[in-house]
Amino acid sequence: MPVEVAAHAGFCMGVSRAVEKAEAMATDGIPSCTLGELIHNPEVIRRLAERGLEPIGDPSEAHGRRVLIRSHGVSPQVLEELKAAGNEVLDLTCPFVDKLHRIVEEGSRDGTPVILVGERDHPEVRGTAGWAHGEVMIVASPDEAEQLPEMEQAVVVCQTTFPHSKWQDILTVLETKVKNPDCRCTICNATEIRQKEAGELAARMDAMIVVGGRNSANTRKLYDICRSACPRTILVESAAEIPPAFANKDSEKIGITAGASTPTDSLKEVVTRMSDMENKDLTPTTEVEANNDFMAEVESTLVRIRPG
Ligand code: F3S
Repeated sequence: MPVEVAAHAGFCMGVSRAVEKAEAMATDGIPSCTLGELIHNPEVIRRLAERGLEPIGDPSEAHGRRVLIRSHGVSPQVLEELKAAGNEVLDLTCPFVDKLHRIVEEGSRDGTPVILVGERDHPEVRGTAGWAHGEVMIVASPDEAEQLPEMEQAVVVCQTTFPHSKWQDILTVLETKVKNPDCRCTICNATEIRQKEAGELAARMDAMIVVGGRNSANTRKLYDICRSACPRTILVESAAEIPPAFANKDSEKIGITAGASTPTDSLKEVVTRMSDMENKDLTPTTEVEANNDFMAEVESTLVRIRPG
């Protein structure tokens, strides 16, 4: 039974960086907490909580502890609130989200309005909106863009994980609304690469396994993409959840991918489990391990979000 793992699967650079630093913090003895769940993966959250690093829902619950800011980032108002209350802050905002914050902050300094393309309730969007000096308009669809008034100028940016095709459709509408738009494509390609590869892999496979938290939006999206290309797709949070009869024919090709908040260990467990099923040793592909080398991904992604 051939088993193939997507070349880019599991932790993206921003999540890998946040988890690595949080795990190091969890052992230094300083009382700490994370503002919101560090990543959408129950296993990682449980592991960190066992070591005293619990998530809090609101800055007022920090009570003087060191507060870790997750990769989604927060508004400057939240940072100020935490610091004013005497909490040490360790900012683990993803560098790409940080770059988005800076574009919004600098671009709106003279009062230029900001059009932020993204999901209104997403924590990254809420945090980013707080960096604008003037008005912020959030749109998630061409229809919502149609409702905007005509304006002379605006800084136009995008939630880092927003689908590229949807961003293009919205830009087409905004061109009719804003006379002098300053458009910056701030989409991070980590999500796009994972989704594209997952769809291509699923189309060639008899069955697909998507590994990741059920509460992770990007894992669920991978599942939807794989399922539409390969009806026999399952989503599992761990290897133990794979039904024993899932892969029962030697000739079947099995594909495996994982969301951006899925630890490499969980991915490897699933790969190992599938190899056990056919009594054959299977080492995870080098691409799975290379994915932990986030410096390479930072460089390639920064090219995408460089202004102009
Ligand atoms: Fe950062 Fe992109 Fe991951 S913005 S958190 S590297 S999906």
